[in-house]
Amino acid sequence: MISSKLSHITKTMKSSMIREMVASTRGIEGLISFAGGFPSPKTFPSEIMSKLYAQTLVEDGSSVLQYGASEGDPLFKQELLKWEGYDLDPSEMLITAGSTNAIYYMTRALVDPGDVIICEAPSFLGSLVAFEASGAELVGIPLDNEGIDLNKLQEKVEALQKANRKVKFIYTIPDFHNPAGLTMSLQRRKDLIEYAIAARIPILEDNPYSRLRFSGESLPTLFKLARMEYGNNEVVTEVVSFSKILGPGMRLAFAKGNRVLIERMCSWQQKVNIAPDNVSQRVAARFLAEGYMEPHIQKCCDFYRPYLNAMLNAMAKYLPPYIQYVKPEGGIFTWLRLPEDMNADELFEIAKAHKVTFIPGSKFYPTGQEKFNALRLNFSYSSLEQIEVGLESLGRMMEEFYT
Ligand SMILES: Cc1ncc(COP(=O)(O)O)c(C=O)c1O
Repeated sequence: MISSKLSHITKTMKSSMIREMVASTRGIEGLISFAGGFPSPKTFPSEIMSKLYAQTLVEDGSSVLQYGASEGDPLFKQELLKWEGYDLDPSEMLITAGSTNAIYYMTRALVDPGDVIICEAPSFLGSLVAFEASGAELVGIPLDNEGIDLNKLQEKVEALQKANRKVKFIYTIPDFHNPAGLTMSLQRRKDLIEYAIAARIPILEDNPYSRLRFSGESLPTLFKLARMEYGNNEVVTEVVSFSKILGPGMRLAFAKGNRVLIERMCSWQQKVNIAPDNVSQRVAARFLAEGYMEPHIQKCCDFYRPYLNAMLNAMAKYLPPYIQYVKPEGGIFTWLRLPEDMNADELFEIAKAHKVTFIPGSKFYPTGQEKFNALRLNFSYSSLEQIEVGLESLGRMMEEFYT
């Protein structure tokens, strides 16, 4: 009976094909997996957290086990603002259960079925399926070496506007992009903001990885640039997740943006979730207040750096010369670009038979806009030895498959 009652949107909603692909490799003995996107559990600050959870429950138990404020705990917000060094009003910030929720609320607040959301192509599948489920049409814009291709963006938006389509926002992941590993250059950040201001299109900046930088200089977020350099407090909404720093199980993130939008997103939060988890917020507030955050992030970076280096060395050593790849300075992914006529979905099946997995690039595009000559490699899960052995094997398979 239930199946006949499902809403149209539920019936047509895409599931995460990545989860299905990863599931299809489960149980393969000796498998080397570059497929997942989980942070390493070895980076989770479990000991400090167990102390802070106990303290929070003993000292604040009667208040934190109560329903909290829908916009988020004021104490946590205060600590976040101090940590980030922003002079923001707390009403310009919303705490959510992971960035997935913040992205969902912004989509609900702005998008009607048939509206257009511009995304990078490729982009994070979790957001793409959520956008599609809202009834939005997704228009993917390719990336070049500096980030989203602005000429293509401009062309597309002009064509859409001529066709009377409503472009509601541009979704971008400027730092250590998932899946493309790329970091948007400073100039591209500025050009994108200038364009978005002129074209009156808001930007949703998804930022789960910028603090996982293992070398090189940090770049200002789009949010910071828009506020500080362009004096614009409307164009960028930034969502920051603690999933890759404290652990995704805590389900903690925050959004910063224009008060009007934040209020509307909060109104969605009331309907969907009532309020974010009070206990996690207060624990994270203590984590910040007691000065654990920066040394912990440093530890995460020190932990991941050798894995990235092993991946970069193995790619240089084993991949055939016709494979191009991104050399990230942080995050947890790198991205291989294959020759036009080489299909990573086919390579996936061959690799699986040889006990190596990755995610084919085609899984990171809006429906109907797939490209097949790319793949994503994760370097935060396998051991250093597995990275060496897995890349050697992948390089060999590519040569055999392609010649
Ligand atoms: C780009 C991007 N955005 C959002 C998320 C989801 O983060 P959260 O756990 O905060 O919902 C991820 C997780 O992999 C991601 O890579």
